[in-house]
Amino acid sequence: MEFYDVINERHMVREWKSEDISMEVLERILAAGLKAPTHDHRRNWEFIILHSRREREAALQFAKAWSVSQEEQKEVSALGSIPQRMYAYAMPRQYSMLVTAPYVVIPVFKGAGIFGARAVNGLNSFASIWCVVENILLAATAEGLACSMRIPVGAEGEQVTSVLGVPEGYVMPCYIGIGHPAENAHVVEQIEKTVKDTLHLGKW
Ligand SMILES: Cc1cc2nc3c(=O)[nH]c(=O)nc-3n(C[C@H](O)[C@H](O)[C@H](O)COP(=O)(O)O)c2cc1C
Repeated sequence: MEFYDVINERHMVREWKSEDISMEVLERILAAGLKAPTHDHRRNWEFIILHSRREREAALQFAKAWSVSQEEQKEVSALGSIPQRMYAYAMPRQYSMLVTAPYVVIPVFKGAGIFGARAVNGLNSFASIWCVVENILLAATAEGLACSMRIPVGAEGEQVTSVLGVPEGYVMPCYIGIGHPAENAHVVEQIEKTVKDTLHLGKW
């Protein structure tokens, strides 16, 4: 796929075909993640790969509890603005969009100090892992696949990394579901923004 086609085609998907993905394809996607820019040249990143239903359910139990708690919000937000409608659609699917994906990848990075950061450069390791995540999203698209993504809320990230046996000091930025999008996968309406809307030539 052409680079700009990949950019334009990438979007979050929350419903999947049951079709599996080969490990070879998954490894290509993760290799693209590892090519991301990094602040300290160390590439202190690791990936936990969840494939069997049992593995996914164990790691996703906390997302499941949260997702159920969002059901009540659904009807109120569904009548609101575009972002509220996106929320109404996506939040009750936080568990299903991951547990039904053939693969869930949990990236982790060495995150010592980020929660006490007092300046932007204190967040460099966090910024770097998000470059990794974006490369993964784009590579999956180039492979004809798609991703779902959830950011853990509150203690959820630590609960998940603890269940997965991740060593102390590593932080998960998100869960990434990867799969073949369902034929009728819903594409969430977005606020359109053009380049012209964002340009400030020389000065704001
Ligand atoms: C930092 C970040 C956090 C996000 N958190 C979530 C999330 O917790 N759950 C979810 O379903 N989608 C999440 N998303 C996906 C956004 O909802 C999605 O990117 C947005 O609606 C734009 O749609 P698109 O990615 O399909 O273009 C997140 C995206 C980003 C960049």
